[in-house]
Amino acid sequence: MDEHQPLPLFPDDPGEPAFQTVAKIGDIPEGQGRAFTIGKNTVAVFLHEGKYFAIDDFCPHQGASLAEGYIEDCAVACPWHHWRFSIADGTWLDNRRIKIEKYAVRIHGQNIQVQVPEPRSNPS
Ligand code: FES
Repeated sequence: MDEHQPLPLFPDDPGEPAFQTVAKIGDIPEGQGRAFTIGKNTVAVFLHEGKYFAIDDFCPHQGASLAEGYIEDCAVACPWHHWRFSIADGTWLDNRRIKIEKYAVRIHGQNIQVQVPEPRSNPS
């Protein structure tokens, strides 16, 4: 890379999936989550100790919305049967070999934005 080249105006890597606005600052109360649909994904976005986190909303046990769960110590407990998942990286805390998807979150102006990968194309 040429060190004299100007920095890009838009820091997103063009090869990376775009960030999409899901809510505005203030829409998610501290210590709670909200579910948002982005394409075919439903993403649970949480505000915990002033920081936003995003993981899949779908609990892999029986499909409850994790956004409706209870947050404690950077984990969310599923509202139905209390399986606990890290909101930082999606790890199921009862079996750390299993994870649900986590997503990057950023604040852009007053917007909360989540980066969700494009769905994989189905080779045929
Ligand atoms: S549906 Fe989440 S623990 Fe059962």
